[in-house]
Amino acid sequence: MADTGKTAKLILDDKTVELPVLSPTAGPDVVDIRKLYAQAGVFTYDPGYTSTASCDSAITYIDGDKGELLHRGYPIDQLAVKSHFLEVCYLLLYGELPTADELEDFESRVTHHTMIHEQMHNFFRGFRRDAHPMATMVGVVGAMSAFYHDSTDITDPWQREVASIRLIAKMPTIAAMAYKYSIGQPDIYPRNDLDYSSNFLRMCFAVPAEDYEVNPILSRAMDRIFILHADHEQNASTSTVRLASSSGANPFACIAAGIACLWGPAHGGANQACLEMLREIGTVDRIPEYIKRAKDKSDPFRLMGFGHRVYKNFDPRAKVMKQSADEVLDLLGIENNETLKVAKELERIALEDEYFIEKKLYPNVDFYSGIILDAMGFPTSMFTPIFAVARTVGWVSQWKEMIADPQMKIGRPRQLIPVTPGAITWTWKTADAVRCAQSISGQKKMRGGRRAALSHLRPPRLSGPRNGPGVFPGRPAPLP
Ligand code: CMC
Repeated sequence: MADTGKTAKLILDDKTVELPVLSPTAGPDVVDIRKLYAQAGVFTYDPGYTSTASCDSAITYIDGDKGELLHRGYPIDQLAVKSHFLEVCYLLLYGELPTADELEDFESRVTHHTMIHEQMHNFFRGFRRDAHPMATMVGVVGAMSAFYHDSTDITDPWQREVASIRLIAKMPTIAAMAYKYSIGQPDIYPRNDLDYSSNFLRMCFAVPAEDYEVNPILSRAMDRIFILHADHEQNASTSTVRLASSSGANPFACIAAGIACLWGPAHGGANQACLEMLREIGTVDRIPEYIKRAKDKSDPFRLMGFGHRVYKNFDPRAKVMKQSADEVLDLLGIENNETLKVAKELERIALEDEYFIEKKLYPNVDFYSGIILDAMGFPTSMFTPIFAVARTVGWVSQWKEMIADPQMKIGRPRQLIPVTPGAITWTWKTADAVRCAQSISGQKKMRGGRRAALSHLRPPRLSGPRNGPGVFPGRPAPLP
């Protein structure tokens, strides 16, 4: 980022602080506040980072007002049509589209790392049989650091490269295994003669009892979904990966942190929430009721798959996704799908509504992706894992870029304290516990006192047998 020679002046009481203004190759200028605290003794306050650039990054550029998304300078709509996912992975990781030889080598490296350590299969067995695949993925990806010790030293560029390839290659295997485990089917091992997306589909849908032929239409649609989710600048999960990595943590732990963050319904969990919402609406005549609810401030309901922190125009990924949904449903002969009808009508009504126009709320990438994934045969619980498979390359590319950056520093935001420090004293419960501990009137009394004193820290007592599966009143009983 170039120093423009310009400065921003901040006037605080009788003091003027001059701050350098940096100019990126694209996007707005940036006021460099790194020395602000040292010079003026103040912090900036920006919850949710609405105006804060947290890093220097050359991987992805978004112009939210124009609705533009570029990866290393290439527009997403062109990449989605002209490239395939592993080419886009190469572009994100190494900065340029590959030559034929480079692509062959890269594909071979990814393909030959798709299997996971056989002992990891046992690790899956520790999860409850109906575990959400995202829960399993967070655990298993974190556990990779216990299986691949030779690629956890982040100071070694070779190990960083190996960890990157392993993560990109094994993520579809892990996601498919998490799915198979959740539905009680045996794992399907990866096959090296298939491309990335076909292999993933096969690992999800094949069973050992019969042959499975990958449908090329579905494989292409899967590949496009992967491309459209590959990277998206400094979003919540990518920032989580960067923050976790800034402490020097191993790459597998950092990517597990990214997966955990992605799961939320405001981020990668939106595709699942969106399809569930479209199904709940059910028919086009019920749309006005839901539009009304979305606008009602006393109702927490939001139109899922609508709105974006950065895009104040059409999300360019949503345009491609909508086209893809039409193509896939048409090719599968289910173009009269009721959910697609509801989605299109909901989009039309919302885009003409004053509330959505004024707030610049447009469909985002997740508005149509669920419809395609549903048509392909995926349950909603797999929507976010698929997003995670695609986003792994984005996380890994951003992680590599950050570790190689000589300016890398541990991430450590400051805070604004809403109460006077030290104003709160111990509660009677804590003080009681201490008094009790000091008492010499017998261990029994102390134990009882401490138990009572710390009762506010304990989770609620569950009914049911000791050590058994407890039951929360008012909730259905969990599976044994
Ligand atoms: N439905 C109704 N109102 C909305 C919606 C929506 N989907 N999104 C934003 N608004 C309103 C919001 O109530 C607020 O109104 P006001 O100014 O009167 O308080 C205003 O628009 C701005 O919203 P915000 O929450 O301050 O905006 P944000 O930038 O913090 O949040 C968002 C962005 C994506 C979390 C939000 O638009 C949202 O919750 N959308 C639905 C969830 C969703 O689809 N998420 C997927 C995002 S794309 C995939 C990804 O990149 O992860």
